[in-house]
Amino acid sequence: MNIVIFGSGAIGSLFGALLSNNNNVVLYGRKSHIDIINKEGLEINGKTFFHKKIPAFCNIKEIKMDIDLLILSVKSYDTDISLNLIKNIIDSETTLLTIQNGLDNIDKIRKIFNHKQILGGVTTQGSIFVKPGLISHTGFGETILGELDGTISDRLKKIVKIFNNSGIITKYSNDINKEIWIKTIINSSINPLTTIFKCKNEYLLKNPILSNIVKLVCNESVRIANAEGFDFNYDDILNKTKKVINYTCDNYSSMLQSYEKYKKTEIKSINGKLIEIGKKQNTDTILNELLVLLIES
Ligand SMILES: NC(=O)c1ccc[n+]([C@@H]2O[C@H](COP(=O)([O-])OP(=O)(O)OC[C@H]3O[C@@H](n4cnc5c(N)ncnc54)[C@H](OP(=O)(O)O)[C@@H]3O)[C@@H](O)[C@H]2O)c1
Repeated sequence: MNIVIFGSGAIGSLFGALLSNNNNVVLYGRKSHIDIINKEGLEINGKTFFHKKIPAFCNIKEIKMDIDLLILSVKSYDTDISLNLIKNIIDSETTLLTIQNGLDNIDKIRKIFNHKQILGGVTTQGSIFVKPGLISHTGFGETILGELDGTISDRLKKIVKIFNNSGIITKYSNDINKEIWIKTIINSSINPLTTIFKCKNEYLLKNPILSNIVKLVCNESVRIANAEGFDFNYDDILNKTKKVINYTCDNYSSMLQSYEKYKKTEIKSINGKLIEIGKKQNTDTILNELLVLLIES
């Protein structure tokens, strides 16, 4: 399969490296990273070891192949600008898969591309952009992909198979929107709280006050989701949140990493979207509002 990774940073480079073992993969990203990949190859260390050259570009016009699958892996605040570039390189036969966090990416993609072209995705794989050319694979996780209309199509099965064959543990879902919401609710407490308290994920459960705040935020986010029409059980989602914290206990969240590098965070696409939807549904959003204020102040 001909695959383009649009936004080859931490997760995109990892997926690109793994998929390149049995597909034609092209990486697209920032010049500093791409130049090193072209000169010395892409290096992945940690849970995966990989070091080889993959075709890589930082000028979109240089991507010439017919693209079967484009994986969008920029941060959610870069989605709009990326879609305007993607328009120039894909056609109606290309599948566009997002593996980004946040509640707003699919809506943005749907404004430009036919919904039949789009696959949604979530992943709990963990990776860090160490420096140009070098990615650290910090944790194996599960990836879930789905058609927006919930059908288990042949192309979905094919892409899931390709991912699994490449070592990316993947399953399909008949409700990818629900999976994206679950991930967003989990992130709505972990990401901002670790950023505000500048702590590893594990501290959220070790510190009794923070552990209570995790519960309160999770509860509010579940209420917002249920007001929007979901039927989530608070205890289930809290347990999932605790599982993620335990599994990623040694990690510093991506929001904290961005914050410490004075980069933008995805808070608007996570807590910000929850607030917007909560307000529309007349449900309480005060804790999410507080978190956004503290991150943005
Ligand atoms: N990393 C993880 O473990 C992980 C796990 C699950 C989900 N996710 C989600 O996956 C998405 C990507 O995360 P990430 O950690 O991989 O972020 P990242 O390391 O920042 O990777 C995104 C890359 O895309 C580049 N980029 C953005 N706009 C571009 C453009 N127009 N042209 C070329 N390159 C562009 C960025 O460059 P600049 O930095 O210079 O803007 C960056 O190198 C996020 O939504 C994140 O929440 C990440």
